[in-house]
Amino acid sequence: MTIDKVDVDPNSLLSDLFREHPETRAVFNRYGLRGCGGDHGPAESLAFFAEAHGVPLDQLLAEIHQVIRDPVAREAARTQLAEDQRPRLADAIYQPFFLAGLAVIVTVGAAWGAWLLVKIGWTGTFTGVTIHEVNAHGHAQIMGWVGLFIMGFACQAFPRMWQVDLPAPRLALLTWWFMLAGIAARSTAMMASETAWASGLHRAGAAVEIAAVAVFIGLLTTAFFSSRIRMQPYVGFVFAALVCFLIQTVYSSWHIGQLIAAPTRDALLQQVAMFQASLRDIQIHGLGLMMILGVGIRMFPAIFGLPETPDRRGWTALGVLLAAIGLEVFLLPAYQMTGNRNLAYGMLLPWMMLPVGAGLIVGPWRLWRPLPEPGRSDRSGKFIRVAFAWLFLSFGMLLLLPVYQAASGIAFSHAYYGAVRHAITVGFISMMIVGMGAKVVPTLRGIEPDRLPALWPTFVLLNVGCFWRVASQVMTDWLPVFYGVVAVSGLLEWTALVLWAAHLCAVMRGWGKYRQEGDTGWGPVPDQIEAEHRVAAVLAWHPELEPVFVEHGFELIRNPVLRRTVARQVTLQQVCRMKGVDLDAFLEALRRSRQVPDPAGCPAEPPRLVPLNVGTPRRSED
Ligand code: HEM
Repeated sequence: MTIDKVDVDPNSLLSDLFREHPETRAVFNRYGLRGCGGDHGPAESLAFFAEAHGVPLDQLLAEIHQVIRDPVAREAARTQLAEDQRPRLADAIYQPFFLAGLAVIVTVGAAWGAWLLVKIGWTGTFTGVTIHEVNAHGHAQIMGWVGLFIMGFACQAFPRMWQVDLPAPRLALLTWWFMLAGIAARSTAMMASETAWASGLHRAGAAVEIAAVAVFIGLLTTAFFSSRIRMQPYVGFVFAALVCFLIQTVYSSWHIGQLIAAPTRDALLQQVAMFQASLRDIQIHGLGLMMILGVGIRMFPAIFGLPETPDRRGWTALGVLLAAIGLEVFLLPAYQMTGNRNLAYGMLLPWMMLPVGAGLIVGPWRLWRPLPEPGRSDRSGKFIRVAFAWLFLSFGMLLLLPVYQAASGIAFSHAYYGAVRHAITVGFISMMIVGMGAKVVPTLRGIEPDRLPALWPTFVLLNVGCFWRVASQVMTDWLPVFYGVVAVSGLLEWTALVLWAAHLCAVMRGWGKYRQEGDTGWGPVPDQIEAEHRVAAVLAWHPELEPVFVEHGFELIRNPVLRRTVARQVTLQQVCRMKGVDLDAFLEALRRSRQVPDPAGCPAEPPRLVPLNVGTPRRSED
């Protein structure tokens, strides 16, 4: 399909528009497309882009028309595009975070969790694994799986929603390194809790994790306040989640540090009884739930055509949920400290408030009905809908806890409480990450939806595995034979996540059938070769230039390993300096020898350097 030279309407696809009018991409870049959508642009409509990025559709259409019709504006847009083509770290900052998150979930996350289940099944008791083993898995999952995905998504998406650049992308990348170092150090310390060096290693790991999370939140806060976006409920949810992220990192560092250093088993058990549950509440309800609701309020109307959440309802829900989380975090330790049973019964209040608060947001979406858009063909919608079903199931199970206690005669059922937690960590949070990853990553890479699989095997295995785990774990309280089958759930969930992780990696890295036609991995071929272009980029755009490199003394470029490594890092300017080659002469030789596309189809106006005047970037959403 092609787009008439000027007749652009809200349903036009960005990829079609860019094919016909490549310079209009400059308009979209200013509203957050830069670095996203692959070389050809995403297969999404203008109306969708406008809603997802918070740009008034009329304004977007007016600016596009101006670029198409006005030669001065068009030339300015071309100049901006040439600038935009320089690869920037911020353009795909989500990738290292997502890739590390995938590595965590398939190894120390789901695989290790499955191994723990095998041990539990083998010993026939939930105390068949040590608290340190469970905590090492829990910590890796919260920080390495949920945390890294949130960080990658937030650094990529929020500045674009707020129409500003991510401040200090190098610092953002440094937080990635710190997170990996912190997770590795703390996990090792927990697994080696008996050694003399465990406490020291754990403290060091905790320090870098806290630094990483604090810097990450600082970057997002700076981005938000440098935009002029009005404070809206979704922003409130997002920042509430970020505050919980920091609190839980500090809290978990202290709590697990105490467990590692506990002098006796009694001291260890007392610490767990008093503080472990409230830590999990901050992590799961405070970080996971609040972030998902914030992103949902902002993105689901655009992606799935769900109704917008009115501000008043959004603020009310935020207030109810924050009060609920505050109460549940306070009441259990208070009960453990005072022994006052009324405080324990009081937990029912926050447990009732949680579904009320979440229901205020999710209820009007009527997720029991098919999603209005984009219809049945959308592969991510089913994950999102079922994730909320798991959320409300976990809330229902919490409320039924007193009934369960009375029926089973067990004062505190580890099996039941663990099942509730699994319903929300895997059924809700992980299901949501899988569904949103399946939606967001192909969009960022510009892969058309009809080239993507529906992900049914992942969907079925993850749901069956989660159901099996929740049901069989509860049943172990009644029939010990269920210890023998509970571990099967780990294998099902692990398989589901491995299938999805392999698919997402392939989409992200452009492997196999997800390699885009003409996709060089370095953005569209620029008009001119410049000194600051990377060697690998120049060779990807113009493979015919290899002999020119060799003639100028860069024979090593023929070595495929160096081409995949060093050549990706160094610019033409740097290699010339290193080799003592005259940069200007080399650039001239490259420019002379490259094969340029036939300019017949290009407009022939001479280049004019004028300031970009195709409308001011919109920086406010009100
Ligand atoms: C996908 C497969 C998974 C398996 C097989 C698995 C398995 C386990 C097992 C056996 C335990 C200890 C027993 C219990 O408390 O019930 C556990 C605890 C835990 N899991 Fe997982 N898990 C998985 C995924 C996840 C995910 C995705 C998260 C977080 C998003 C998570 C977070 C936790 C936490 C925080 C704990 C510690 C709970 C506590 O404080 O006692 N798990 N998991």
